[in-house]
Amino acid sequence: MSPRKIIIDTDPGQDDAFAMLLALGSPELEVVAVTAIAGNVPVSKTERNARQILELAGRPDIRVAPGCTRPMVKPLKTAEYVHGDSGLEGWELPEPSTPALPVHGVDLIIDTVMAAPAGEITLCPLGPLTNIAMALIKEPRIAPRLREIVLMGGGYFEGGNTTPSAEFNIFVDPHAAHVVFTSGVPLTMVPIDCTYKAILTPAWLERLKAVGKRTALAAAGLAEFYQRYGNQKFGTDSYPLHDPCVIGYLLRPGIFGGRKCFVEIEITSPVTMGATVVDWWNVTKREPNCMVLRDLDNPAFYDLMLERIARLP
Ligand code: BDR
Ligand code: CA
Repeated sequence: MSPRKIIIDTDPGQDDAFAMLLALGSPELEVVAVTAIAGNVPVSKTERNARQILELAGRPDIRVAPGCTRPMVKPLKTAEYVHGDSGLEGWELPEPSTPALPVHGVDLIIDTVMAAPAGEITLCPLGPLTNIAMALIKEPRIAPRLREIVLMGGGYFEGGNTTPSAEFNIFVDPHAAHVVFTSGVPLTMVPIDCTYKAILTPAWLERLKAVGKRTALAAAGLAEFYQRYGNQKFGTDSYPLHDPCVIGYLLRPGIFGGRKCFVEIEITSPVTMGATVVDWWNVTKREPNCMVLRDLDNPAFYDLMLERIARLP
């Protein structure tokens, strides 16, 4: 079977880096392009960070384009308090040997999807959904051509991690999320309800370091930096990696659990702006628009991630 073609839209971010490495180490997937978005840090940094991760993994051939510089309506809110000043603190990553493409990320998404056979490309957004929404608005013909969008964002049972009711990626650009969730494209949402079960433990980190190769060692360094914030928040050395769950789901859907629901994005209330309102019990009787993940077999997920990152140089 030929590998599944994905575009990763990302705001690295240490957990974004793990998602990219998991994809790059997995022969079932072909990363056809990477687009960067403003989120954890401004897009000038996320674009460069994405190229550094590709360089680390020995894949500077993969095309990278910078996307939108700010959300559609709101001012940009970044998260240096989690990811550090560069967005990717924790390891001295190699200088990128390939420049970013001289095209906008939104156009790279559109051109890649329009050039591929219908139903071939899966979008994997790991940050605010601005690029994806702008692509859907600029070229609506991409919607029926997409195989699926599998995104990290939202939270329902766990509430929010940025406000009491909103998760970071959706909170930063709720209007873009609204566009995506009303687009009719098949959607899978990986909210914090699921990713809070993707707990990285110190024991796993030791296994990662024991791989001894440059990518594994760098990934461990990034995780250790990220751990500082996890420590503050959860009070233990074990903490969740969000974004790699998106790639884990593509590789091993059977280790995740969830259900199809109708999901709506709050874009008017100042109190709950960016909440992902999941009709888990189908009380509205509205047609589900999204597969909502909630459960995860943690050991199976981390075994997979270790095995795949260990394949990289
Ligand atoms: C999401 O926010 C970012 O800080 C992480 O990279 C992840 O995509 C988790 O809420
Ligand atoms: Ca992210």
